[in-house]
Amino acid sequence: MHAGGPHGASIAVAEITSPITYTDAVHHLLTAALAAVLVALVMGQCRKPRWLIGRLMLSTMNRSHSRLTDWGLGHVAIEPGFSVLDIGCGGGRTIQKIAAMVTTGTVCGLDYSAASVAAARRLNRDAVEDGHVRIVLGSVSRLPFPAGTFDLVTAVETHYYWPSLVEDLREIRRTLKPAGHVVLIAEAYRREGAVSAVMGALMRMLGGAQLSVPQHRDALNAAGFADVAIDEQRRHGWIVARGRVAETPGSR
Ligand SMILES: C[S@@+](CC[C@H](N)C(=O)[O-])C[C@H]1O[C@@H](n2cnc3c(N)ncnc32)[C@H](O)[C@@H]1O
Repeated sequence: MHAGGPHGASIAVAEITSPITYTDAVHHLLTAALAAVLVALVMGQCRKPRWLIGRLMLSTMNRSHSRLTDWGLGHVAIEPGFSVLDIGCGGGRTIQKIAAMVTTGTVCGLDYSAASVAAARRLNRDAVEDGHVRIVLGSVSRLPFPAGTFDLVTAVETHYYWPSLVEDLREIRRTLKPAGHVVLIAEAYRREGAVSAVMGALMRMLGGAQLSVPQHRDALNAAGFADVAIDEQRRHGWIVARGRVAETPGSR
């Protein structure tokens, strides 16, 4: 096709009105479906890491969650003799950080992904061998520990995946000693006044909950925790939610 250009010059322009054929439409649909499956496959590794791709995601998360974890752990007292449980331990970086603080105590990691347990054991090999750290396969909903075992339970970037937050927090409370603390640390949450449509869509795709600040508070209160406190670092979009087991008799 030809058209008149500046100064009357004749120029060729591309044909842009060719109709979309049935084959083109099928091709576009298949490409979009494949892209969606790939995104879901990669993002699904955050929820339950598996295979080689899961191992890569675990090592990425060890790095990318490090500053968030330091910030969150800064909101609780961690004493050298503490017995600590890290739930949804992933690649094991949080366990490593806590083990460095709990020099005379013990750290236990738990995750329902075999790939996470293996990666966390690899990262903490020496501490696992000398008995300072233990890492087990299991679900937050049925913790394989007797009542009153831990001084502190931590959970970094995982609680929004749990099947029943309030019930799972009650199960955590069972394993805590009187005056023990739970601390939930995350950057995936619903911030007041923030436009979070992308994060919301992503979380829906992953089957995770995008919890607001009041929802964090309500869940901890409903699970029976006392002194519930929430802090945000709004510049980075981080949240830390914590609660304490009341020491009064009969409160458990
Ligand atoms: C996004 S990763 C975070 C890992 C690690 N805490 C970190 O900060 O890098 C979430 C982890 O929680 C684990 N997880 C999710 N739901 C769980 C459940 N119901 N019980 C135990 N672990 C769970 C996943 O297997 C995964 O290793």
